[in-house]
Formats: sequence, C-alpha cells, structure tokens
Amino acid sequence: MPYSRREIIHILRSAAFQRAKGDRSRAHPLCEEAGQAARTVFGQTIYQRGVIEFSSQCDMACLYCGLRLPNTRLDRYTLSHPDVLHAVDTAVQCGMGTIVLQSGQTAQPDPALIAELVSVIKSRHRVAVTLSLGEHPEDVYRLWRDSGADRYLLKIETTDEALHQRLRPGQTAATRLRHVERLQRLGFETGSGIISGLPGMTPDILAEDLIRLSSLGLEMLAVGPFIPHPDTPLGHSSRGCLTQALLAMAFLRLQNRGANIPATSALDSISPEGRILGLQAGANVIMPSFTPDTVRGAYSIYPGKNRPGSKAADIATALQQRVLSAGFELTNITGNSKTPLFSRLPRMLEGTL
Ligand code: 5AD
Repeated sequence: MPYSRREIIHILRSAAFQRAKGDRSRAHPLCEEAGQAARTVFGQTIYQRGVIEFSSQCDMACLYCGLRLPNTRLDRYTLSHPDVLHAVDTAVQCGMGTIVLQSGQTAQPDPALIAELVSVIKSRHRVAVTLSLGEHPEDVYRLWRDSGADRYLLKIETTDEALHQRLRPGQTAATRLRHVERLQRLGFETGSGIISGLPGMTPDILAEDLIRLSSLGLEMLAVGPFIPHPDTPLGHSSRGCLTQALLAMAFLRLQNRGANIPATSALDSISPEGRILGLQAGANVIMPSFTPDTVRGAYSIYPGKNRPGSKAADIATALQQRVLSAGFELTNITGNSKTPLFSRLPRMLEGTL
C-alpha cells in the first residue's frame, strides 16, 4: 500500500486545516496524482451508468438518509415495469452502457419480479445491469445473479462498528461486510463505499474505512460527502467537506488502480463543479439519474440529490456537456473494472472450498 495509516490521517487532517485557512486555489497534489493514475489506466474515457431509482420504499431507519422509514414527509412510490423499461430505453439512447436499478432496502417487492425485470432489460439491450437494493438473503442474491444481473452495489457507509451502529439502528458493519463478501463469492462485480464527513466520523475513522475498503478486492468503490437532510435526525449537523471527500476518493484510486470509482452526485450538492473535480481526482465513472421526472423529486436521499422538474435526459445531457468541456471522453461500453484478478482470487477461492 502506497500510504501508511498515519500518512493518510495526516493528509486528511491537514486538508481540513488548509480549508479552514481558505486555501482552495488549487487541487491538492494527492488529487492530481490520483487523477494521473486514473488516466494511466482508463485514458480520458469516462464510463456512464444510468441510475433508475425505481422505488422509494425503505424499511430501514438510517439516521442520515431521507428515505428512512420514520420520514413520513416523503411520497413513497414504486414504478411499474413499463415505466422502468421506458426509463431504460431513454438511458440507453443517452449512451449509458450500464443500468443501475436502485431502491431503498425493503422486503416488500417480490424478488422474482426484480429478476424478471433484469432478464427483460438484458434481453432488450447490450448493457450491464447493476443492482443496488440493500441487504437480502443469499438465495435472493443468487436468483438475481441467475437472472442476468452483472453487478451489485452495497455501501458499507462506515466500517467503524460503534459509529455504524449509532447511525444505522439495528444494523452492524460486520453483517454489512459479510454481505459484501457473499456478493463477491456469488460472482457479482461488487462495489461498496462510504459517506465521508458523517457526524462523529474522525479523520482516524475515515482513514481506517479507506484501508478496510481497499483490502477487499472490490471492483467498484465510492465516497460521497455527507449532506444533511432536514427531515432526518441529522438535519442540523454540518455537511461533509468537499476537499476531504476528494482526498478520500484520491486515496481509493491510488490503492485500487483498476477499480471503477464514480464521481458521486453528492459532490455536486456541495459545489457546482463537484463531479468534475471528482473526475480530476481519480474518478472514472458518472452515474446520471434516469428516474422519470414525475417521481424523481421524491427519491430524496439528501437535498439536491435529484432535481425535480427537468427531464432526466436533459439533465444527463447537461452533465455530459460539462464532462466533455473538461476534456474527458464519454463511452457507452459496459466498462467492467480493471481490478486485477489476483486481488479478487482469495475471495473467489473461498467460495469454492
Ligand atoms: N448524504 C450523503 N450520502 C447519503 N447517502 C444516504 N444518505 C446520505 C446523505 N445524507 C448515500 C448512502 C447510500 C446511498 C444510496 O446514498 O451511501 O448508500
């Protein structure tokens, strides 16, 4: 590993100090190094994933998330299959090589219906399908894998057990990690990630999160800064720091050279140039939302997540223009990870023993 725990903590702390002094004039050298590393592996090419947030139902009570069950101010919706398929068509027309089906974590929808949706999407389009539906029993994961789902995203949020249990009532980091490992063994390209700047997250905890995440041989890794949602118990907490989120991403890139790392939309909630700064600091993926505008505003994980009103295709096109103007190239290939096989092998072998 190129950086020790102590060095990571030191850089994360000094970045907060620099920011306090108001020194935002140029990117941190570490972000530049991570940007270079990403370009060495991926060139200027940016992979595109179209996210369809097909249901805002959620059984969980995570303190940071607007979808939490106790939030009664949220309109709950579940899209019909024809509506999802229409959104998929739009995403493919806009150049997306991967479709990400996302919802809250709920036991409500029949897993067989999701399996059917995946197989219809795979039969209609040459795209990869990623599921991001929270924790489920192993036989459900297997059903979805068998129906053709290629990838699964399950963010750990933080590996610090005390903080995790405080922010995700009734849940543990250890269980979450076990689910991630299970998904890897089932043959999904697996992704995980964290929220930086969560209330109670120290630079030491964030550094540990980055080290733990990097030890898992994941194909996808993400960091998004915490954005307070007014209808949650953390509504009055301070938001995460942009510089810290970018540095966290840069560390992930430097330690996981071939992984797919998105410039998360939470970056844009802090700064209008957030996602471009993310690409310059080592990200290689954008994930525009193709959730229909009739319900998009209701998928309110954090404020600014999904702008209601405009058509999804128009918002995606505007993002694509920004990415191109910043000197990147866009592709519609599925964009599998370049995580070397040897870092995934131990987990894959475990599955066969
Ligand atoms: N701020 C930033 N990211 C958040 N997420 C949920 N709530 C917030 C928030 N308030 C992220 C989590 C979740 C993903 C869908 O959105 O990482 O897994």
